[in-house]
Amino acid sequence: MLVLGIETTCDETAASLVRDGHEILSNVVASSADIHALYGGVFPELACRRHIDALIPVLTQALIPGETIDLIAVSKGPGLIGALLVGMQAAKGLSIAWHKPLIGINHVEAHLYSAFISFPQSDWLFPSLGIVLSGGHTFLVKISGIGQYELLGTTADDAIGEAFDKVATLLGLPYPGGPPLEMLARKGDPTRFSFSPGKVKKNPLNFSLSGLKTAVFYALQNLVLDEQNKADLAAAFQETAFTDVASKAAIAIQRFPCRGVYLGGGVCNNQRLKEILADRLSPLPIFWPPPELTLDNAAMIAGLGFHKFRQTPVSDPLDLDVQTRIPVV
Ligand code: KG4
Ligand code: ZN
Repeated sequence: MLVLGIETTCDETAASLVRDGHEILSNVVASSADIHALYGGVFPELACRRHIDALIPVLTQALIPGETIDLIAVSKGPGLIGALLVGMQAAKGLSIAWHKPLIGINHVEAHLYSAFISFPQSDWLFPSLGIVLSGGHTFLVKISGIGQYELLGTTADDAIGEAFDKVATLLGLPYPGGPPLEMLARKGDPTRFSFSPGKVKKNPLNFSLSGLKTAVFYALQNLVLDEQNKADLAAAFQETAFTDVASKAAIAIQRFPCRGVYLGGGVCNNQRLKEILADRLSPLPIFWPPPELTLDNAAMIAGLGFHKFRQTPVSDPLDLDVQTRIPVV
């Protein structure tokens, strides 16, 4: 079954063709991060306008002449309302014009699927721990199967990628701040500042990142912002945030007979995160998404769409609606 995936939740316009949930035939992404960099964060109205300009060229590039599409899968949310609408309306139009079924996909669930996509279904390990660390989401889930999740922890305030972006701004780094912050942290001493991770009384597996961000803000008030000070702050922030993720993941895997850990989201590009998790969760196998599927993309939407289509009958495409917020489970 060949699935066309369409993704427009935030600042990436993406389209992809994936066969049978695994074989990626095309994966095209156009990012509008360059405009948002001028403002230090995503400017929703400009993101929407870029989707309108980029979607047809991206689709044209992703489609392969001679390949017949069986299903269209589109991100239905969570995301920016205007951005979601651009992808959804295009998907509805194509579904009606081509007489093909259309399925709406939860973008966050698709981030988790990106770590499954490269493996045949017979190799998937359940129950497993799912960890999504992205610009908009931070959560831990028990995965009993595709579509069967139990939420174990989420963030009470900032998402982890958002906290990286905000701390990067404080340190004078460009947007999106995760990659330059990681580079800077390599030159820093993570032990020079002792920051504490946020605690959430209600649930020890929940995250709180705004206090850590504020701690960086106060620490830098008393410093000359030279390269070494900035690098030490970046390293201490990164180390505290990732050690917190690893500690909570270590608690989570004790709660059920966990057979593996699957990660998704842009923050998974970070090498230090890989080291810390490998160290703390060993000997459990850890599955990372391929680098081209960490950030927003449509291959994860098409891949998950294939499985969801087999699980749930689709309705009239015109009944599908976007949702700016959708619970993970
Ligand atoms: O998955 P994604 O596109 O976001 C959402 O769908 O919400 O990930 C983008 C986020 C940004 O916050 C970016 O700063 C962060 O991922 N990121 C990183 C790294 N690369 C991207 N954070 C830390 N270290 C990195 N190397
Ligand atoms: Zn995303």
